[in-house]
Amino acid sequence: ARIVVLVSGSGSNLQALLDACADPSYGARVVAVGADRHGTGGVQRAAAAGVPTFVDELKAYPSREDWDAALTGHVAEHRPDLVISAGFLKLVGPHFLAEFGDRYLNTHNTLLPAFPGIHGPRDALAYGVKITGATLFFVDAGMDTGPIVAQVAVPVHDDDDVATLTERIKEAERRQLVEQVGRLVREGWTITGRKVTVP
Ligand code: GRF
Repeated sequence: ARIVVLVSGSGSNLQALLDACADPSYGARVVAVGADRHGTGGVQRAAAAGVPTFVDELKAYPSREDWDAALTGHVAEHRPDLVISAGFLKLVGPHFLAEFGDRYLNTHNTLLPAFPGIHGPRDALAYGVKITGATLFFVDAGMDTGPIVAQVAVPVHDDDDVATLTERIKEAERRQLVEQVGRLVREGWTITGRKVTVP
């Protein structure tokens, strides 16, 4: 299976996928990595692995719609079976969802539907929950609202700060991402309403 990964940050989730894909029995290969900003660790990791990269900055386009159309085109050039947002901090638009809506995965660093948005671990800590985690889901038009593929629970420790909690979540999140993406590409999936079925 051909995978395109979108990143905005350090790319540790991307790295986990690149490492997994090095084993042919994993069944997938990262064919391109896209970013919404220059100079990210994610793009550097891709380049180091010999994977083609592209950057589509929102501010380089006259409107969000133009950006969405350009991003869709750049991803489509690589003919992905699956597109994965691994810390991609932009909501995609209607062009992207029309093209990839049933095969665009995102990983979020809380147990959805609790604490959507970019400050999930901070918000979970501030609320005082004792368990949080990571959620892998197919993206729909909402923010962190799409059909869920898998979740993993992570305990919150009494002495956690945002950094320690974020790191504990990321370890579980990376494992889940690699396991579930492997399962999806090897076995396929169907989405019926909110239900994701892997045969
Ligand atoms: C992940 O924890 C993801 O849930 C969040 O950003 C993080 C991405 O980290 N939205 P990285 O760039 O993969 O290291």
